[in-house]
This record gives sequence, C-alpha cells and structure tokens, in this order.
Amino acid sequence: MVKEPLILCMGSACHQLGVYEVLPKLQALIRDYQLDDRLILKGSFCLETCSDGITMKFRDQCFIKISPQNIEEKFVQEILPAIQSVASCC
Ligand code: FES
Repeated sequence: MVKEPLILCMGSACHQLGVYEVLPKLQALIRDYQLDDRLILKGSFCLETCSDGITMKFRDQCFIKISPQNIEEKFVQEILPAIQSVASCC
C-alpha cells in the first residue's frame, strides 16, 4: 500500500507554539491507531496559516489550532475521520 503523507508544519511560528511537543504525541497516535502502514508523517515549511496555531495537512485539507494540549482530541475528532474517509474508498 502506498503511504499517504500526513504533513505537520515545522515552521518557526508552529515551532514557537510547541510543535516539537506535538510530534511525539502524533507519532504515538499513529501507532495506537495502527496507521503506520497507511501514513507517512512529514514535516513541512510554513503552511501559511501561522495565525491559526499549529497546522497539519492531509491531502488538501488543513487542520488548524493544534496544540500539545489538544492534539489527541484534534486527531480523533478531525484528522482520523479525514484519513478513514479516504481509506474506506480505496
Ligand atoms: S509556521 Fe506553521 S503555519 Fe506558518
């Protein structure tokens, strides 16, 4: 199966907001939800939504206002459904 990129902004604004605390939590979530064979986590330069907090992207969908405190909730409520909706059609 070809892995799809799940992109995490590693730009300077997101860095200031704690993206390096989000990263290990995100890696654990990907493991816990057994998405390792489906996703590849990639860092990116600024995704141009700096004023909206830490940003992630899956396909053409952006997820904003992520923080080290809410990443679990954001993942389960927003990111996971987006990933699963793609996976279920292929
Ligand atoms: S630095 Fe992350 S959106 Fe700009």
